[in-house]
Parts: sequence; structure tokens; C-alpha cells
Amino acid sequence: KKPAGAPDPKIAKKIGKIGVLGAGLMASQFALLFVRRLQVPVVITDLDQARVDKGVEYIHSEIDTLLGKGRIDSDEANRLKALVTGTVDKADFADCDWVIEAVFEELGVKQSVFAEVEQYIADDAILATNTSSLSVEQIGAKLKHPERLVGFHFFNPVAVMPLIEVVKTPATTDEALSTAMVTAKGLRKNAVITTDTPGFVVNRVLAKVLGEAMHAVEQGTSFETVVEAQRPFGLPMDPFVLLELVGLKVGAHVLDTHHAAFPERFFESAALHELAELGHIYEKDSKGKVKGVDK
Ligand code: CAA
Repeated sequence: KKPAGAPDPKIAKKIGKIGVLGAGLMASQFALLFVRRLQVPVVITDLDQARVDKGVEYIHSEIDTLLGKGRIDSDEANRLKALVTGTVDKADFADCDWVIEAVFEELGVKQSVFAEVEQYIADDAILATNTSSLSVEQIGAKLKHPERLVGFHFFNPVAVMPLIEVVKTPATTDEALSTAMVTAKGLRKNAVITTDTPGFVVNRVLAKVLGEAMHAVEQGTSFETVVEAQRPFGLPMDPFVLLELVGLKVGAHVLDTHHAAFPERFFESAALHELAELGHIYEKDSKGKVKGVDK
């Protein structure tokens, strides 16, 4: 098959069932969006039953929140809950037309979960990765059919952020690319097609902002001063709150990936790795206020 050109809705694959590899926060958030917007069954898996149960519970609780806000009625809430199933058996992915992963952001892990699921799915099922900064082409390197793989990068919080980066590799087919674009539209997101370069577009910008903020702290500026100094730019969140939202381990990993790709342009942050071990940047003081943890 020839590499993808422009997306064409006419050749997009119809999606009747979706498989989600990973049941962490990101995966659970987009699993919910799939059932809500596409109204198709979604099966979700992870390493063990406890992780799967946690993901399904999160989705159910978010559906209850939508019900509580009056965004959906109780029939719809029950219908959405019934569309979500958890499993530890990848054979349950056999009839999925679209399988998307959001497992640990490490190349070997992503390659092996895809290689495993490929044993069960149809040859023409589309695969998508939510990687934020790894090479999509390398993630597909161990697949029998790498041409069916496309990047499909959501942003946190998935329910609110309007963008999806659709990433095409030199191998991605027109069908995979078109299916990704039609799927993004069905989710009511704006999709942009990017090339398979480190950090795509958004994380290259974000890694710069967040990396420089962390570097300023490492060089002795206080968290409060960094927050105050960047305020005129009008970002919706201070950089450290955003790092906590993204996940400190994910954030540290994104910085490492960018540093590895462009060593002269991006900093690694030892402080961010330490804070990731600690689990937070901000802590509450006795009055319930928050402040940056001194490094
Ligand atoms: N999960 C689900 N919904 C959320 C949410 C969350 N974590 N946070 C906020 N929301 C919802 C709220 O429930 C609310 O919905 P309703 O209108 O239905 O009630 C809506 O978002 C607005 O919330 P707020 O009133 O609290 O609005 P806000 O003005 O404080 O905005 C925000 C919140 C949208 C998160 C805003 O602060 C923002 O845009 N922050 C920047 C987020 C960002 O840059 N994300 C990208 C991170 S990079 C990434 O994810 C990818 C990667 O690869 C690392």
C-alpha cells in the first residue's frame, strides 16, 4: 500500500467496537469520550484486574458526574456504562476495528503490547497510539502490519482540550489516516496532521515552556517567582500546576525525550525527576494554601 496522502472520509473504516490498551487516567478519559461521542462498545485492558477495575470505576464516576450536572439523563448514563467493559484477556479485542494504546511511555512496552494484541485482531483493524513524544514509526517497528498504525495524541483533560495531533509515519495508509481524522471529528475534536518528529508540535512548545520553568527553579529562582514572571503570557495554568495535571513522571519523561532528540535545545530536569518520586510539586501549608516544594 502507498503512503498516506490527504485524508478522505469516504475510505475511513467504520468503527463498530474500540479496544483501549491501558486503563490509567489518560486511557480512561478517552475511553469515556469514545463511548459518549461514538456510542460504540469500548473494551479496556491493563496489566491486572485491579488496574482494569480502577479504570472502569473512574469512567463510571465520570458518567455519574455528567448525570449530576444534567448533561445526560439516567437512561443515557446506564447505556454508556453498559458500553464499557474491562478485561485482562486480549482475546476480547478480537472484534475491535480500532485499538488505541496509552500504556507506559516506553518504547519497548508499547511495542510489546501492540505485538501481543496483533495476534488477536483482524488484519485490517486500525491501531493508534496516544504517545506524546516517542516515534510512532518505532512503536510500529515490531508489527506485522505497521502501515495500519497512526498517532492519535490527546491532551489532558481529554474532555475539555479541543485538539488531537494525528501523526502519520512514512508507512501510514490512507485508510488509517482517514479513519483517524473521521474518528477525531466524531469525538468533536479539531485534528491536525503532524509528521512523526519528536514531540510532534504541541509538546515541542510545551516542553520548552515547562523545561525552562523547571530549569529556572533549579538555578535558584523560587516557584512563586517563576509563576509570577510567566503570568503576563496568560497561560490557563501555571507551569507547575500543568506539570502536576500531565503527571510528573510523564512530564519528566517528555523532557528526557526532547533532550535526547535535541540536546542543545532542551533541558533534562533532575529536579523534576525528584519531584516525580515525591509525587507532587505543590503541597498544602497549615492554612490550606499551596506552595511549591523547595528543591
Ligand atoms: N477532567 C475532566 N474535566 C475537567 C478537568 C479534568 N481534569 N478539569 C476541568 N474540567 C472541566 C470542568 O469540569 C468544566 O466542565 P463543565 O463546564 O462541564 O463543568 C470545564 O472543564 C472547565 O473547568 P473550569 O471551570 O475548572 O475551567 P478552567 O477555566 O479552570 O479551565 C482547564 C480548566 C481547561 C483545565 C484549563 O486550566 C486549561 O486549559 N489548562 C491547560 C491544560 C493543558 O495545557 N493541557 C495540555 C497538557 S499536555 C498533555 O496533556 C499532553 C502530553 O502529551 C503531556
